[in-house]
Amino acid sequence: MSVSPTPAARPRILSGIQPTSDTIHLGNYLGAVRQWAALQDEFEPFFFIANMHAITVEHDPKALRERSLRSVAQLLAAGVDPEKSAIFMQSHLPEHAQLAWVLQCLTGFGEARRMTQFKDKSAKLGEGNVGVGLFTYPMLMAADILLYRPAYVPVGEDQRQHLELTRDLAQRFNHRFKKTFRLPEPYIPQATAKIMDLQEPTAKMSKSASSPSGLIDVLDEPRATAKKIMSAVTDSGAEVVFDEEKKPGVSNLLTIYSALSGRSIPELEEQYAGRGYGDFKKDLAEVVVEFVTPFRDRTFALLEDRDHLDQVLARGAEKAGAVARATLRDVYDRVGFVPPVPVAQ
Ligand code: AMP
Ligand code: TRP
Repeated sequence: MSVSPTPAARPRILSGIQPTSDTIHLGNYLGAVRQWAALQDEFEPFFFIANMHAITVEHDPKALRERSLRSVAQLLAAGVDPEKSAIFMQSHLPEHAQLAWVLQCLTGFGEARRMTQFKDKSAKLGEGNVGVGLFTYPMLMAADILLYRPAYVPVGEDQRQHLELTRDLAQRFNHRFKKTFRLPEPYIPQATAKIMDLQEPTAKMSKSASSPSGLIDVLDEPRATAKKIMSAVTDSGAEVVFDEEKKPGVSNLLTIYSALSGRSIPELEEQYAGRGYGDFKKDLAEVVVEFVTPFRDRTFALLEDRDHLDQVLARGAEKAGAVARATLRDVYDRVGFVPPVPVAQ
């Protein structure tokens, strides 16, 4: 008989998602959020909405507020369970910004400048148009992670470099002061680590896609979503086979089909042998619609109950706050900050 581990014995995991869109896309879901729900029993989970990261680019306050709540509802709709996971809002815990400052002081200027996300975004917007927050984004992310001393961080492939910096900073702090941080490992399941754009299958699916038809937004009208699948770019030839190099479009669709149906890629290749792209896309459209329809319904129902969402966040912040405060106390002590005392009576 196997003995289930006690809660304290489970390794911790932590991850975050930015509330920068009205809806998560299929890449966010398959690459990250679905993993979060799947890992809840085996690990001790902390998941948060990175609303402080969301202001590193120009934003609308009203939209940010709405999207933050939508993000919580979507995590719940994806099966992240507040009984098992601490679900919280980054801005509710000041320790994130406080630790970020300490880590910024340990980060080299050149080291920060090498981050590809910063390079890409500043190249796109023009260096004169980006704020310093975009530059220090990775140090805030390192703080998000290190405060909780997690064993693993489940994210998509695009976050790997940020995790490497996080590990470097943890090691540097431990070495310079005293061993304080655990070095977290990325948890990136290869099959769904990078879902590609449907129109441009050599680029990752992203909310900043050049054309909306390449992006499956999970909360969109299911009929519109089915249409996007039907008009996805396929490759020359007619066989449904997985070959990322020669057939990036079909391979991406096979990845999505397999991830949503639970059937293996060889099994799908066999099923569609000699049948062409049309049948394949029609069936995939159905599989996607079967997933998004109940997901949308659950999300919109959850959004009707604002008190419930607020309570989920309140309980999450209580649980996460206890951990974050304890870590920050250690950090402040180790860097040599004099502790505050109450006013004598
Ligand atoms: P973001 O919306 O940038 O906060 O991303 C949330 C999570 O989704 C992160 O863990 C990303 O790595 C993941 N993610 C974003 N785009 C993709 C994609 N195209 N394929 C797989 N994972 C992705
Ligand atoms: N940078 C992440 C993204 O764009 C979001 C994020 C912020 C995050 N802090 C984090 C992810 C901490 C994991 C852990 O997807």
